[in-house]
Amino acid sequence: MPARRPAPLKIPLAAASVLVASLCIAPAAHAAPGNPGTPRYGPGTAGVGDPYFPLAGNGGIDVLHYDLDLDYTPPAAGAPLTGELQGVATIDLVATQDLRSFNLDLRGLTATQVVVGGKAMAFSQDDKELVVSPRPKLKAGAQTEVVVTYGGTTTRPEDIEGALYGWVTTADGAMVVNEPDGAPTWFPANDHPTDKASYSFEITVPEGLVAVANGLLQGSETSAGRTTWLWDAPDPMAAYLATATVGDFALSQYTAANGTPIIDAIDADLIPENRDITNASLALTGEMLTFFEERYGPYPFIAYGAIVDDDSVGYALETQTRSFFSRVAREGTVAHELSHQWMGNHVSPERWSDIWLNEGWATYSEWLWSEDQGRATAEESFQEVLAIPADDEFWETVVRDPGPFGIFSGAVYDRGAATLHALRGEIGDDAFFALAKTWVAEFGGGTASTDDFIALSESVSGQQLDAFFDVWLAAPTKPVSW
Ligand code: TRP
Ligand code: ZN
Repeated sequence: MPARRPAPLKIPLAAASVLVASLCIAPAAHAAPGNPGTPRYGPGTAGVGDPYFPLAGNGGIDVLHYDLDLDYTPPAAGAPLTGELQGVATIDLVATQDLRSFNLDLRGLTATQVVVGGKAMAFSQDDKELVVSPRPKLKAGAQTEVVVTYGGTTTRPEDIEGALYGWVTTADGAMVVNEPDGAPTWFPANDHPTDKASYSFEITVPEGLVAVANGLLQGSETSAGRTTWLWDAPDPMAAYLATATVGDFALSQYTAANGTPIIDAIDADLIPENRDITNASLALTGEMLTFFEERYGPYPFIAYGAIVDDDSVGYALETQTRSFFSRVAREGTVAHELSHQWMGNHVSPERWSDIWLNEGWATYSEWLWSEDQGRATAEESFQEVLAIPADDEFWETVVRDPGPFGIFSGAVYDRGAATLHALRGEIGDDAFFALAKTWVAEFGGGTASTDDFIALSESVSGQQLDAFFDVWLAAPTKPVSW
C-alpha cells in the first residue's frame, strides 16, 4: 500500500541514472533512438535507498498483497536445526516506473520459477536479490501478479549484530521474527517499511503442529498427516512484522473489552514458572488495549494476541497483530509490544534511522503503564535515565541516527523514552497527548520520519522546538538544559 505521505518528487532520468550507477546497479535503459516520446524502461533499483540497509526493499514496485503458501518440515528429533521450506508467493504489485526488470529481496532460498501475468519469465538470483525480467515490460501504473516458486533448507539466520532473526529453525518448528531485514529468509519481499501490503497465509506443517501467522485464523485442514493453517491479515503491514511461527502451540481465543478479537498461541512446553508469569501478564491484554486506546486512539488492526514460544531468539517482537515472546511474556514487555501496534506498526519508520520513534514510544508506554498500575511513575523512570553519569557511553548514541549497529541500543529505547517525557514537560500534558493521537491519525497506515515528528510537535504545541530536539536527539552528550 502506498504510504500516506507525499510521494517524493520524480527525479529526472539523468539524475536517476547517476543514483543508480552509484549503487553499482546496471545502468538505466536508453530511450529508443529517434523516438523521444517512448517510455524508457529501466531496471528497478536493488534497494529503496535506506542508508542503513542499502539492499533492503526494491525500487520501481509497490506491493499490494502477498499470498504466502508455505510447506514446512521441521528437523527430525535429535537432528541438527535445519528444516525444509517450500513456498509459492503470489504477489500483487504495481510498477511505479517503466520497468524492464525489478528485484525482490530473497536470501538463502532458491527460486525455481517466476510467473508474471500468467507466463513464466526469465529471472536470476544472487545471495540477496531475485531479479525478474517481465515481458512484456511493465509500464508505470500497471498492476500485475508475480508468482514465485521457491524453497530450500532453513537454518538459524542472524542480523548484522548477530541476533537470531528471520526464519529461525527450532527443534519443534520455527520462530519467525524479521526485524529489521530478515523477511527475505522466508519469502520474496519488497522488504522495507515504506512498502506496506496486506497478507494471506496457507501454511502446511506436520499434523500436530500449529502454524501461527498475523491477523485472523480462517481455519485449518488436515489430510494425509499434514495440516494447513489459513490466516488472513488485511491490514497494511511492513514485511518485518510478518510471522509464520510453527510449534507445539495451544490456541486460545476471546474478545477483549474494546471488541478486538484476541488469539493467543502458547507453547505447550513452557516451564511452569514461565507459564504462570505469561498467563498473568497476557490476562492484562484487554485492560492494556483500553489504556493505550485512551492515549493513542483506536486500536488500528482487526485482531491481536501473543505467540509465546518455549524457544528463544533472545528478545520479543511486535509482530503485527500477534506479538512474539521468547520463553515468557512479562507484563512490561506485553505493554511494550502492544503499544508498538500503534507506534511502529501502524506508524512505521520512514528509514531505519528513525527507529527511536518505535522504541522510544514503546518504552515510554511501559513507563505510562507502570505508573497507572501504581508502580514507578514516568517521572521516576525519567530520573533513572538522567541518573546515568555524563561520561557513560550511553550518552554517545545519536538517537535520531544511531547507525545500523545501534538500532537496538539502550539509548534508542531509554533516551528515546526520556525525550518523550521531556517533551511532555516542555509542551504540557494536553499538547503532548494531542500530539500522540494526531501522530497516529495522521501517519497511521504509512511511515513517518523524525523530521515529521518534530514538525508535528511544533504545530500541535505552537512552540519552536528545534533546540529542544537537537539536545535530546542529535547531541552525542547528556542533556543538561533544554
Ligand atoms: N523490536 C524489538 C522490541 O523492542 C527488539 C528487537 C528486534 C531486538 N531485534 C532485536 C532487540 C535484536 C535486540 C536484538 O520489541
Ligand atoms: Zn520495542
